[in-house]
Amino acid sequence: MAEADTATSGILGHPHIRVEGRAKVTGAARYASDRREDGARESDLAHSALAHAALVTSPIARGRIRDFDLHAARAVPDLLAIFTHRDFAGAVAPVGHLMAGGHANSSHLPLGSDRIAYHGQIVALVVARTQEAATRAADLVRATYEAEPASATFDDPGAEIVRFADLKAHHEDIARGDPDAAWSVAEARVEARYETPAQHHNPIELFTTRCAWDGGRLTVYEPSRYIGAVQHGLAAQLGLDPARVRVVSGPIGGHFGSKFALSQHTALVALAAKRLGRPVSLVPTRRQCFTIANYRPETRHDIRLSADRDGRFTSLVHEADVVTSRFDPFAMEGADVTASLYACPAIRTGERAVRVDRNTPGPMRAPPEVPYLFALESAVDEMACRLGLDPIELRRRNDTAQDPVSGKPFSSRPLMACFDAGAAAFDWERRATPPGTMRKGEWWVGLGCAASVRPVKIAAATMRLRLSVDGSVEVGCAHHEIGNGITTLLAMGAAEGLGLPVERVRVQLGDTALPAAGLSGGSSTTTSLMHTLALGCAQLRDRLARAAVAPDRPLAGHDPAGLRLAGGRLVAADGRAMPLAEAIALLDPAGVETVAAFTPAGSGEAALEALRGGHIGLSPGGDRVTWAFGAQFAEVHVHGETGEIRVPRLTGAFAAGRILNPLTARSQLVGGMIWGLGSALLEETVLDGPTYRNADLAEYLVPTAMDIDAVEAVLVPDPDEAVNPLGLKGLGELGIIGVNAAIANAVHHATGRRIRRLPIRIDAML
Ligand code: MOS
Repeated sequence: MAEADTATSGILGHPHIRVEGRAKVTGAARYASDRREDGARESDLAHSALAHAALVTSPIARGRIRDFDLHAARAVPDLLAIFTHRDFAGAVAPVGHLMAGGHANSSHLPLGSDRIAYHGQIVALVVARTQEAATRAADLVRATYEAEPASATFDDPGAEIVRFADLKAHHEDIARGDPDAAWSVAEARVEARYETPAQHHNPIELFTTRCAWDGGRLTVYEPSRYIGAVQHGLAAQLGLDPARVRVVSGPIGGHFGSKFALSQHTALVALAAKRLGRPVSLVPTRRQCFTIANYRPETRHDIRLSADRDGRFTSLVHEADVVTSRFDPFAMEGADVTASLYACPAIRTGERAVRVDRNTPGPMRAPPEVPYLFALESAVDEMACRLGLDPIELRRRNDTAQDPVSGKPFSSRPLMACFDAGAAAFDWERRATPPGTMRKGEWWVGLGCAASVRPVKIAAATMRLRLSVDGSVEVGCAHHEIGNGITTLLAMGAAEGLGLPVERVRVQLGDTALPAAGLSGGSSTTTSLMHTLALGCAQLRDRLARAAVAPDRPLAGHDPAGLRLAGGRLVAADGRAMPLAEAIALLDPAGVETVAAFTPAGSGEAALEALRGGHIGLSPGGDRVTWAFGAQFAEVHVHGETGEIRVPRLTGAFAAGRILNPLTARSQLVGGMIWGLGSALLEETVLDGPTYRNADLAEYLVPTAMDIDAVEAVLVPDPDEAVNPLGLKGLGELGIIGVNAAIANAVHHATGRRIRRLPIRIDAML
């Protein structure tokens, strides 16, 4: 990476509107289920070879299917087929979970047998000429079941508790010093249980799939933030050469952490398309999306935090339970982050998975930090109250430049800089100290804060850059535009790296026909792709420079390393220059092309190997502890009589390395903060036994404009040269983290009530 040209020419680092924004707001953007294998518009009914699928799902959570009665369903006009386990058992080979070395978001195979493993499992796929007929026939499928007792959540009979260390290959609980001894002599102690609910992602674009065969080749249109995993996982399931499977994912209409791996229904739709000899489209219902995909599992945390008289932490114990399925070793570690956040000599963590009869949960934005930091940052606030200290001052006294667990230094540690910048922007000084003392008319007023931290991740990627003699650039990469603005960043970066206007860059993403790339996840997109892009730009620049300095060439005799691309020219240090078009023509009149292959420090070929196999390849990279930081501030008003909770103000200050586009960065952060408010006050999937009771957008509550007032994200400079060559950290997930604790802490400050279970609703205030 040393050769990457990081010199700026004033594009990166400055605000730029989204290059794909116009297509999105005018309806021109084509989402996966808008796409046609033949290029026709969905509205063009002349192309009606496309068949439509509907799902039938299980009303029981555990047991077996006894029988089907398909007579009424088969009588529906335009019906093409009904597929059950009798048709598909054995047709789909098992594939492991993405985070356990496989490709799938759940390794359970619906229609693989008569067994039912969770409520809402797919039991039949109905295909018809129209969506209406498929839906009607699906409604008429009758099935009988033999139900067995099912476990839904914590403490249910039959729920199986497994230590992460016994479930996951690389997990180790942390044990440092003697927390019990420190606890017994501590001057201040906080011991409490904190709980967070199950939550579902609910993107507006549902979990759709469209499959079309062309001889032995399969094309899949599916919104996915890891098309490589879909390609390779599906190939393994169906016994196909991955080169014969193409996965296309256009812009993604929201994912929030879902759409991260191969879906369970994709192979079923592919098989149906194959058997019927026509393309098949599945657009499931909102309700079905609650059980055919993943969710943020409910968690509970037992925290014990002790401090000395000055507020220095003397011990931390964080024990956590997280729900997971019976069949996948999926559970997100989070205590590694809470253990490393503050200086503390004695730390113990213990994380356990609780296996129940539900589908496998999945990542939801900042999967571990959102629940785990709710617990820790609430406990820190409780400790501040116990000690009579300002909660920011308490954090300052426990700030550390070194990870207390590993002893490694942080590559940069701007946590307190974030608290200071946030406190100034939020006017934290107006916080009167005792809880329950600030009033505004009929409302109790409270101010709260909490830390946001997120380990930096980075992944291998490959990318094609093509520079045409007309000065246009094509950037192609099998990564994804998930709404984060990466298309814009790549256009900005290519323009800057190649010395051309942003408008001349065309970015193609979301197609496995492009050079392989990994998961859009872990806030790693910018760190991974911008390094790949810089490498590609440097490769093109080097080739052009070497051609231009050859004998008898316009820049003969110059040091090729000293040439820059700027303003559509190749420019030497002494000011001599040649037009880019001429330089390109020296190599190939049609244009020059390169494929860059980036691997993070220390990962090498193995990272590229994983990438080409569609396996997850996120790594922390480097030998320091590399985190992004933030501080969240919330003002909460609680109505004195009704208990209604309003949040007139959220302020966050964030340090996430070099910021490449302040406009899209702020928008990511503000979006995350708003979601954090929803996560604190509104969002909860209500379980009734193993059944989700509020599986629709009428009753699954998310924040609307009426819930949101002033939301401000402050960007704190974080020049971190050790984190990676370009100083990038990624901030996609940083904005949501800690908002729940900041709001809960503000609720306590307003009312004196400590709420340790989310979401915080009116009933908790009465
Ligand atoms: Mo994030 S939900 O860890 O990609």
